[in-house]
Amino acid sequence: MSVDLEWYDEYSIGIRFIDEEHKGLLSIMRALRDSVEANDLEEAKLLTETLIDQSKKHFLHEENYLQHIGFDGLEEHKDYHKELIDQAIEVKKICEGATGDKNLEACIDSMEKYMIDDVISGDVAFKSFLEYKGYIGRDLF
Ligand SMILES: [Fe+2]
Ligand SMILES: [Fe+2]
Repeated sequence: MSVDLEWYDEYSIGIRFIDEEHKGLLSIMRALRDSVEANDLEEAKLLTETLIDQSKKHFLHEENYLQHIGFDGLEEHKDYHKELIDQAIEVKKICEGATGDKNLEACIDSMEKYMIDDVISGDVAFKSFLEYKGYIGRDLF
């Protein structure tokens, strides 16, 4: 079952670069979904690599920001990011070995869920901290 990959305003954290990067990740995932539906496996593999690359950049960017503002749950959030990347790399391996549509579909679904999880649930972990400290809408980075 595929995941809804559209951006909704309620996903917004209120920090511009984070929201923009989340939107960017969702858009790569939509392209990935399209390439899978078009049965273009070569393109799907490339987009999976791009997604991992951009996710790593996003996580690092976000972690630097959270460190800068003194978020007390940073170590936990870093572990969460690391887990998501590990999972994505695992998914990529399945992608590379996938011979039939079923395998590829399953791995794409799993990857989408992991990313949606960061955008919606994972980052809610620090949103309340940002609100409490009054950082929402202020661009420090
Ligand atoms: Fe994030
Ligand atoms: Fe995050």
